[in-house]
Amino acid sequence: MINIAILGCGVVGGGCASLIVENKSMLEALANDTVDIKYILDLRDMPDSPFADKMIKDFNIILNDPDVDVVIETMGGARPAYDFSLACLEAGKHVVTSNKEVVSKFGDTLLEAARKNGVNYLFEASVGGGIPLLRTITDGIASSNEITEISGILNGTTNYILTRMFGSGASFENALAEAQEKGYAERNPSADVDGIDAARKTNILAALATGKLAGEELIHTEGITKINGEDVVAAKKYGAEIKLLGRVVRSGDKTYAYVAPHFVPHSNMLSNVSGVYNAVSVSGNYIGDAIIYGQGAGAKATASAVISDVANIISGKEKHATRSFLRDNSFPSDFAEFCCKRYVRFADGENLDKAAMIFENAKILERNAIVTQKMSEKEFSEKISLFKVENVIRVL
Ligand code: HSE
Repeated sequence: MINIAILGCGVVGGGCASLIVENKSMLEALANDTVDIKYILDLRDMPDSPFADKMIKDFNIILNDPDVDVVIETMGGARPAYDFSLACLEAGKHVVTSNKEVVSKFGDTLLEAARKNGVNYLFEASVGGGIPLLRTITDGIASSNEITEISGILNGTTNYILTRMFGSGASFENALAEAQEKGYAERNPSADVDGIDAARKTNILAALATGKLAGEELIHTEGITKINGEDVVAAKKYGAEIKLLGRVVRSGDKTYAYVAPHFVPHSNMLSNVSGVYNAVSVSGNYIGDAIIYGQGAGAKATASAVISDVANIISGKEKHATRSFLRDNSFPSDFAEFCCKRYVRFADGENLDKAAMIFENAKILERNAIVTQKMSEKEFSEKISLFKVENVIRVL
């Protein structure tokens, strides 16, 4: 008999419980054994939940029950999710999570604990919601290619907001409220709109591509809060959508990792990704470019990815802790050297003739906006310090 415990009965935890019940016979066939939810940990009283008979409030009941084989951590937040995960791994229980904050902050320690204790720590749902992304990257691409670039729309909430702003002219606030109602947004919307959630996911992707886990504060991060209707009009004129991208870019012996909004030209498939959908483009030295697309948030899609990890464990497919991340504080490379083109919207009254002189060969887009030639962050900051600027968006 395989017993599962779920830590946290929010949107994703509840989705996982429903999936296990609905697809029970399929999971049991894979495991060649019975599969049951034994406990669901949540501090809230949930007498009307269909899982009310499984609900507990004391984590130690799970930790000390030798019959619990697999623990699903869907609590969100760094603590106590990290402490509970570590304790479960040390007690010889497999842990599966959708919690990107924990993986991004503590993935190296948790993978090492899993390895030492002969169990698994898996986190397919931590990036890309329901998309089977991480296993595709590690088993399908990184195993036979040098990965040269990963660029992705990694946050469903901000993609939903940008799509609504582009399509129907919705205000930022209304579009965010809609995303929150649909259960896509993080508990604190700043994690979505300021790019923090995407930065954590980018950190995990960079670690998968390189084996090195950076401190998440080293991922250069910008959000979408400065984008307004004027930027939308300018992007349309340029032939682009605005997308929040997480990127890992290898250039010579440097690897950059960052999150920022971009003008994504219509010729690039990422520009067509709308609403809560995520898509990730992965480039390797043999595969060329591959794009993976699907729902990046929501109870059912995310539960699908969580339970795919559980299925891999209970079917015996997943060998114990084959991944490892090494903490490396010299990674990623200094972002000041990263080169790209940029759209610049100047403050009212700025002199565009002067801008055209300083930013040689820039394209004038609007009465107050240009697109520069490619240059490093350092060179751009020096030049732009001569002007008052409302917004800057990188161009893919
Ligand atoms: N808030 C996240 C998003 C949830 O909108 O993508 C899924 O990670």
